[in-house]
Amino acid sequence: MTIIVTGGAGFIGSNFIFYMLKANPDYRIICLDKLTYAGNLSTLKNVMDNPHFRFVKADVCDREAVYALFEEEHPDMVVNFAAESHVDRSIEDPGIFLQTNIIGTATLMDACRKYGIQRFHQVSTDEVYGDLPLDRPDLFFTEETPIHTSSPYSSSKAAADLLVQAYHRTYGLPVTISRCSNNYGPYHFPEKLIPLMIINALNDKSLPVYGAGINVRDWLYVEDHCKAIDLIIHKGRVGEIYNIGGHNEMRNIDIVKLIVHELGKSEDLITYVTDRKGHDLRYAIDPTKINNDLGWLPETKFADGIKKTISWYLSNRDWWEEIISGEYKNYYEKMYTGR
Ligand code: NAD
Ligand code: DAU
Repeated sequence: MTIIVTGGAGFIGSNFIFYMLKANPDYRIICLDKLTYAGNLSTLKNVMDNPHFRFVKADVCDREAVYALFEEEHPDMVVNFAAESHVDRSIEDPGIFLQTNIIGTATLMDACRKYGIQRFHQVSTDEVYGDLPLDRPDLFFTEETPIHTSSPYSSSKAAADLLVQAYHRTYGLPVTISRCSNNYGPYHFPEKLIPLMIINALNDKSLPVYGAGINVRDWLYVEDHCKAIDLIIHKGRVGEIYNIGGHNEMRNIDIVKLIVHELGKSEDLITYVTDRKGHDLRYAIDPTKINNDLGWLPETKFADGIKKTISWYLSNRDWWEEIISGEYKNYYEKMYTGR
């Protein structure tokens, strides 16, 4: 079995590659990644010499490069993680989100049509459902919840999902889609809430909480997401959408306080800053379908996962120090100075 994993030098894609090489040691895994600001080759250093692994630097929008790889490798499956993934960046500059997330997905599926494929799996997000009100804890996103997006990022992901469904219906492409809630864990890029707060707290820098900090996200340890995708590509029904989430809703401010306490820092570091434009209030996944149909359940409790994550950032300073000392400095200044 040969699987092309796009975006495998990023947060979830790299964790998926590590998981797959362990769980399916006879598989060949090919990572196709453009190495944008979010992709790091250093993340993949422990698998670079694995004979079952190959890294290819390419853009998912580059039709020639994508077709050449398919011609050479004849993949059995494609798992598409490649994306521009940060909501704040999409608010600043939507164009690249449309390019990578929509055109990139279509280009990959065109290659699948041309060369044949057993499965094209699209890694989507719960953000395609928009948000839920804070005062209706009884409401959850199911696979039937209408698409109702808020940001250029989520809109580009929703557009990609619609294209994936269209390629299935029109061309019979064997596709599946998963829509997961917020992930956390090792190799999470420092621009996102949890790593940003861990790193800033470690550096005694202020902790910028958007608005009142009462927005709710449904957090899942990244390995649980990887296991769910492994199940879907092997046992999931073609044409289906699967929501992934572990009923772990938390307010941003509570996450930030937990990190502060775990690191023995002061809550005085917390600074309330101008809210994100169009900020989604609450995400909450109903994972009944994947639980009933595929037997998936999350295995890592948040209390354990967050400790493991903090400890990973403490032991892997080289990884994030290199990132935050580069182009990230300009990004941080632009997004947070005087906010
Ligand atoms: P990330 O930003 O950490 O990584 C994205 C990766 O894609 C990087 O390695 C980057 O170099 C690569 N990439 C970007 N543009 C590319 C292009 N044009 N061609 C090839 N490679 C390209 O993202 P992530 O957080 O790991 O998210 C991965 C996927 O999972 C995304 O599709 C995202 O929408 C989805 N998702 C993320 C979360 C989350 O909480 N992070 C939750 C649900 C779904
Ligand atoms: O739900 C899945 C989505 O989760 C994925 O599709 C996205 O790719 C991923 O980035 C993530 O999106 P969020 O916008 O929820 O994640 P982020 O880490 O950017 O923000 C989480 C919450 O924390 C959100 O309510 C905004 C808030 N926040 C974020 C940052 C970066 C802050 O309060 N301060 C910050 O500095």
